Amino acid sequence: MKVYLDNNATTKVSKEVLDSMLPFFNEEFGNPSSMHDEGFKIKKMVNSAKKDIAEVLNVDSKEIYFTSSGTEANNFALKGLAYANKVKSEIITTKIEHHSVLHTCKFLETLGYTVHYLDVDQEGFVDLEQLKSLISDNTLVVSIILANNEIGTIQRIRDIKKICDLYSTYLHIDAVQALTHISLDLKAMDVDLASFSGHKINAPKGIGFLYVKDQTKIVSVMHGGQQENSLRSGTENVAYIKGISVALTSGIKRLDEYTNKLNDLSNYLLNRLNELEVDYILNGPLVGPQRLAGNLNLSFKNKDSMLLTYLLNKKGIYCSTGSACDTTTIEVSHVIKALNLPTEYSSAVLRVSMSLETTKTDIDYFIEMLVESLKE
Ligand SMILES: Cc1ncc(COP(=O)(O)O)c(C=O)c1O
Repeated sequence: MKVYLDNNATTKVSKEVLDSMLPFFNEEFGNPSSMHDEGFKIKKMVNSAKKDIAEVLNVDSKEIYFTSSGTEANNFALKGLAYANKVKSEIITTKIEHHSVLHTCKFLETLGYTVHYLDVDQEGFVDLEQLKSLISDNTLVVSIILANNEIGTIQRIRDIKKICDLYSTYLHIDAVQALTHISLDLKAMDVDLASFSGHKINAPKGIGFLYVKDQTKIVSVMHGGQQENSLRSGTENVAYIKGISVALTSGIKRLDEYTNKLNDLSNYLLNRLNELEVDYILNGPLVGPQRLAGNLNLSFKNKDSMLLTYLLNKKGIYCSTGSACDTTTIEVSHVIKALNLPTEYSSAVLRVSMSLETTKTDIDYFIEMLVESLKE
């Protein structure tokens, strides 16, 4: 039996998405910048995909810029603001960001920016008092991961936004894990920039987009042609643009089903662990509105992450550890470190992330194999 429980790492491209993309490889293959009918047709499709995306997010289609990934969208947001607004020299982010934000911030430090990394509490929520104490008129942008990819914490963005407004500070959210998994009305949230990626929502790897609110002072980090209003040069990835728009419009229709099913499966999994008296901690918030549905991040006492994933992998179960490793070292992930777990629980962290295809049988098999592996 094979059980894929790593959907926060990436998802399967759905048949509906794949079918929608196929014609754009060899039938409708024109360049959207071409000044002839083959080009106009494709340009129309790109604009209509953008309109569909904008509609779901309640923004204007002119505020959407396609990118090659969530990583590029985060780079574009932070570097684009930094290069365009040199009068402010501080940035605030958190200790639990994805590396595409953290490493971009580290790079901006080398250009002279001062970056503050906010602490989080035991459930992964940003310390708002610390934010209030650090933010000033010199803060260019606050960049916050809306839904954490490791521990599932969904931040209280409206509270953060109110603080940003006091200092006319831009608010950027990394919403890569949130797309189609929580309801997102960007206008109501009133964020200035938001990053997204396709491969977490059943579209392919290698496509993403950045929302940039109208009037935001930002410059391009990719120079070339005039695509995307000259803010993101490069011939549009037409088929993938179609794919991400279909994945989004179709995923959002299933949001309630997704939330209810995955929260039920999560509660079932946790109840079974309790019944079996497994010694574990659930990292991040309780299953519910403040946690990404289907994401469970579990720590086991005095065990080893690499050994556990190795044993589970041998049994056909694919999930993530809370560690970053290369061939010689294993280090607890920066997100898990930020939670300050008791040391006996920080060395064995498993992230289970489900999809609509996950079944109760999958979870039963996972639990059986987990309990067996914990004994080895
Ligand atoms: C929260 C978050 N931000 C950004 C990214 C990067 O997205 P991409 O893989 O499209 O570069 C990821 C991917 O894991 C993510 O989980």
